[in-house]
Amino acid sequence: MKPHWWQTAVFYQIYPRSFADGNGDGIGDIGGMIDRLDYLQDLGIDAVWLSPHYPSPLFDCGYDVADYTGVAPEYGTLDDFKKFLAGAHRRGIRVILDLVLNHTSHLHPWFLESRSGRSHPKRNWYVWRSGNGGGPPNNWLSVFGGSAWERDAATGEYYYHFFFKEQPDLNWRNPEVKKAMFDAVRFWLDLGVDGFRLDAIGTIFENPAEPPHTATQTQIELHRMARQAKTEAEWKAIGEQWRLMYEHQADRPELHELMQELRALVDQYPCAVLVGETEDIAYHGNGHDELHMVFNFPLMKTPRLTPAWVRENQTSRLTALPDGAWPCNTLGNHDSSRVYNRYGDGRNDDTLARISLALMLTLKGTPFLYNGEEIGMTDLMLNDLGQFKDNAGVWAHTIETEHLGTPPAEALDVAAKATRDRCRTPLQWANAPNAGFCPAHVRPWLPVHPNYAEGVNVSDEDGRPDSMLNFYRRMLRLRRQTPALVTGDYQPVDEASGDILAFMRRATDGQACLVALNMSERARRLSTGLGGRIECLYSTHESRAAENAIGMIRLRPFEIYIGVPLSPERGRGSG
Ligand code: NOJ
Repeated sequence: MKPHWWQTAVFYQIYPRSFADGNGDGIGDIGGMIDRLDYLQDLGIDAVWLSPHYPSPLFDCGYDVADYTGVAPEYGTLDDFKKFLAGAHRRGIRVILDLVLNHTSHLHPWFLESRSGRSHPKRNWYVWRSGNGGGPPNNWLSVFGGSAWERDAATGEYYYHFFFKEQPDLNWRNPEVKKAMFDAVRFWLDLGVDGFRLDAIGTIFENPAEPPHTATQTQIELHRMARQAKTEAEWKAIGEQWRLMYEHQADRPELHELMQELRALVDQYPCAVLVGETEDIAYHGNGHDELHMVFNFPLMKTPRLTPAWVRENQTSRLTALPDGAWPCNTLGNHDSSRVYNRYGDGRNDDTLARISLALMLTLKGTPFLYNGEEIGMTDLMLNDLGQFKDNAGVWAHTIETEHLGTPPAEALDVAAKATRDRCRTPLQWANAPNAGFCPAHVRPWLPVHPNYAEGVNVSDEDGRPDSMLNFYRRMLRLRRQTPALVTGDYQPVDEASGDILAFMRRATDGQACLVALNMSERARRLSTGLGGRIECLYSTHESRAAENAIGMIRLRPFEIYIGVPLSPERGRGSG
């Protein structure tokens, strides 16, 4: 069967505030995105995931939506969006939007109406409760810190918020909420968007009995423990407390019925896709009736990508997926440290970042890349609390200064490492003031990383054949030209190797591809287990092209090798 577009596509996440500034006000916008469509086409990606572009007061950088069918005025107009969509489609690039279903902004008109009085018809659109003995209804907590209940002084009741108090949870048990949100879904699908990334999908329902959580540590204690944890056992204990703390607030069974309804809606459109921001494969349903994809987040939850880690991840993940479900891999997004820093070792960061990309583009499943990765952008350590835009970073700072008594300089350092601002800085387009993101006299919404002046920018890298950018282009082209890398199955090779990750991708049409990544700084031998010769399709070591190996390949330090097994009788591609 012919694969669906989203199974063969490489997705590229655009963080609109930081991607490209078309009107020179220091804030990325849709005009800028339109200007860069040729860049995206030339890069070789197939689809864009656009982080929220809706009007928002930005308490959570756009994940607090104030109008689900609008466009943030600082990003442009609906007409601009339509132009962007048409321009993307003309270039064969699909566009999926971020859909924040769990909560709205506290300034969304629905919430303003809801909080305006206990008997307002929209009161029940959100989760309102009476207090309990002068305090909140129960001990549930917000993941962004403190109680999950906020008292509304005017009406004397509490509303529930899993995230910031500026992000009240919608009451999805109210059919009117579902109808309003499904109308918004239809609005965008009717406009021609190609699907949605579903934000925080597991948090939509809570346990209706609302039992108290039974964690024995407070959030502050857990934070302190995390700062000091060194052993696996300590991390496990923290994880268990964390689980207990939120066990009644997420991943409720009711969600599956809702996902089935959403899928049925989306299936009325020919090609739309749903990608859940969750790692829980239960959201695939029976493989055909809930989400098309969920992220393989477990893959990225490691300080170091090792062959053993990836092999274990692939084996457990791929075997667990129900029939019909399709894997989806990523190593970075707007919530996590940049790949370059996350998996770097401080000495071989550039090489390791290339290995990470090779991994994304050769593992079985749809890859999601994050804007800026392609030029090797790195985390920026902010050195002034006044520069922080991410309130989660501000909260991390408050914990240090007000609860843990950390000295100011150290507290700032901890917060700078924690804030998600570090990976959200403006894209570095050129070696020019403000990295060419916005004019020299304008202050960008977040500071640009000064390493744009050291060659980490699109225009310099464009001209350097060995740059990260040209490596991305080349790898993306290679993937596109090699069907086995896109649709082939996954079979580990030489599983005993501690340094080389190797696997075969075999397509149903017979094409096979051997992928070998030497993740170590030592030369290593790989036993391919193959009798015939292997034609090198790609290697980071140019001289490799001349060598066709039999049974064994000697890989140079950090070599990325992709080859096609040849059989003497049947020739290329028969594996
Ligand atoms: C997940 C988003 O990726 C994150 O940025 C946001 O803060 C939360 N969901 C709440 O919407």
